[in-house]
Amino acid sequence: MAEFDLVIRGGTVVTAADSSRCDVGIKDGRVAALGASLDGGRETIEAAGKLVLPGGVDAHCHIAQRGSKGTETADGFRTGSISAACGGTTTIIPFAAQYKGQSLRAVVEAYRKRAEGEAVIDYAIHLIISDPSEQVLGQELPALIRDGYTSFKVYMTYDELKLDDSQMLAVLATARREGAMVMIHAENHDVIAWLTERLSAAGHTAPKFHGVAHAAPAEREATLRAITLAEIVDVPVLIVHVSWREAIDAIRDAQAAGLRVFGETCPQYLFLSADDMDRPGFEGAKYVCSPPPRDKANQDFVWRGIQSGVLSVFSSDHAPYRYDDPEGKKAKGENAPFHTIPNGVPGLEVRLPMLFSAGVRTGRITLQQFVAITATNPARIYGLNPRKGTIAVGSDADIAVWDPDKEVTVTHGMLHDAMDYTPYEGHKVTGWPVVTLSRGEVVWDGQEPRGAPGRGRFLPCDLPEPARPQGRFVSGFDPASGAFVPQA
Ligand code: URP
Ligand code: ZN
Ligand code: ZN
Repeated sequence: MAEFDLVIRGGTVVTAADSSRCDVGIKDGRVAALGASLDGGRETIEAAGKLVLPGGVDAHCHIAQRGSKGTETADGFRTGSISAACGGTTTIIPFAAQYKGQSLRAVVEAYRKRAEGEAVIDYAIHLIISDPSEQVLGQELPALIRDGYTSFKVYMTYDELKLDDSQMLAVLATARREGAMVMIHAENHDVIAWLTERLSAAGHTAPKFHGVAHAAPAEREATLRAITLAEIVDVPVLIVHVSWREAIDAIRDAQAAGLRVFGETCPQYLFLSADDMDRPGFEGAKYVCSPPPRDKANQDFVWRGIQSGVLSVFSSDHAPYRYDDPEGKKAKGENAPFHTIPNGVPGLEVRLPMLFSAGVRTGRITLQQFVAITATNPARIYGLNPRKGTIAVGSDADIAVWDPDKEVTVTHGMLHDAMDYTPYEGHKVTGWPVVTLSRGEVVWDGQEPRGAPGRGRFLPCDLPEPARPQGRFVSGFDPASGAFVPQA
């Protein structure tokens, strides 16, 4: 009997720590051996001249979800997971979104049903908490955390989702007590609402005014406030989809002060800009997302945030709303005012190739940094390591065999999501996965998606080590125990 089900032969295996020329032996869906000249594979993938990377972990994507403007994402678990696999991603973490008045448990159960029989790769689930009632924070959330839903997102904006500061503190304190990771959408709601009202009254309703309403200082202020609230409670947090340089500065300063504050950014802040929302007619709607793409000069600051490690997670924030669709960007009609346009851009499939091309190929980041921010760090931060996010004996054989020289021009027609456009149309990249394996099974063969819908499994997450509190209270007061120790 063959020792391995599959051997990947002759490639360069890359992890967040190092690169080495070796073979990968896979047995029962897991990495069973790493070594030179492994024999005894029932099947073989020849990988000479290729990179053998951990499959990506996309820790922020919206699929099978009703968005804050009431419309449903174009992708469900089937097309979302297929599209992810074709771009080298092997784990996705979408959101079970609670709207006000809903039971969190009921929301999660309904969401799990939507995944059944659909996903081709494995998935975990974050929660979105918009109604932190006593019942939710005292009963439902702790029980869900024990069931493996160990991370949740809270919003500081959007009418239907936002929490006020007092609710944020209550959620943060619960996360601290239970050991969960909190993800924060940091934008100042009142600033956005006030500017939106004034812009509308002045007749400024075109898509580009979305970027004016979601003013950069509103992101800076909310980021600082979120960090401050987390510091008061002594709990680590992750600021999602960081777009603006001053928000990056705020995270860097917090980290320099010893706080556990993590930052995530996304392709739209490296490759899109405010100019895209100013395209003729209603075209700009295709680029409307929150926070919005900023001015072109800001892109360099986001790159520096990645290079310095201040931003340690790179996610797609895939939020797919079709352009020509009553559930999409034109939900309120062609030329609808900017504040009624569903927020979000797609990016699941292009996340890795675009970062590889513009990051690794140009020398901006190393292969190790690439693997860290696209796979290893998100797996660690959300309690999925070492099973996901790395290539090590015992970890799941979730692997992207990567051709670093493959030249591809991104077009909507070549992608596998359910969208009718890509914001990156015509973008040229070098480097694309030629095989993607999920637990040792081919789910993308370089030409076609493979793998049966429903083979993807739900991943209960561990309590993440990075979510552990630090035991330091700025005021000397521990709100959980009631202890007061005056600071020197
Ligand atoms: O515009 C975006 N990012 N839409 C998705 C929802 C969110 O806030 O992440
Ligand atoms: Zn968000
Ligand atoms: Zn999002």
